[in-house]
Amino acid sequence: TRQIKIAPSILAADFANFGAEIRAIEAQGADWVHVDVMDNHFVPNLTFGPAMCAAIRPHIKTVMDVHLMISPVDASLEAFAKAGADVLTAHAEAGPHLHRTLQTIRALGAKAGVALNPGTPLSAIAHVMDLVDLVCVMTVNPGFGGQSFIHSQVEKLRDLRAMIGDRPVHIEIDGGVDPSTAPLVAAAGADVLVAGSAAFRGGSVENPAPYGTNIAAI
Ligand code: DX5
Ligand code: ZN
Repeated sequence: TRQIKIAPSILAADFANFGAEIRAIEAQGADWVHVDVMDNHFVPNLTFGPAMCAAIRPHIKTVMDVHLMISPVDASLEAFAKAGADVLTAHAEAGPHLHRTLQTIRALGAKAGVALNPGTPLSAIAHVMDLVDLVCVMTVNPGFGGQSFIHSQVEKLRDLRAMIGDRPVHIEIDGGVDPSTAPLVAAAGADVLVAGSAAFRGGSVENPAPYGTNIAAI
């Protein structure tokens, strides 16, 4: 049976206290820590780069799951790998050389992930499946936390699960995951659930509970 992992996204955490926030969420049972890198070019938001990733790495006891919402991406891979990313996920839409991007991530010693925006079909990764350790299905349009789950992606998720079969490739769901949508995606085949607002603010994405909550509810 598939073991479901919860990967809280620090995009929803207190940006002035990442160390403490990471320790708190891992103490509550986080399996991975999802780190959303945004460049204000690939997505309309700007978060942080390799220096911040390197700074928080010593505070992460579990897995640093770095989600690169940046374009171009190839020139930045080494810096993020050196910062300590355990999983380095690039977007299929970030440039023309996805095959080389994934080869480079693996050559740098990180697990290679590929992320698909809601409008991108699975065919975009049909010829790189031998190079991926993780496929991230975006269930929101990337750039912000607290958005609503895009239900049309569940069919993509089911098709992806069939495509992967029992090969050792993680299926990560990213965006709008909360106690109401988590069971849906777990049943459809996901094994890593990213949660930002639901993890750091509890409740549901639409109605976040007071700050800080137990992620077991997800
Ligand atoms: C969106 C990010 C997601 C986001 C998830 O671009 O990639 O990881 O932080 O936040 P919630 O769970 O609040 O949708
Ligand atoms: Zn993300």
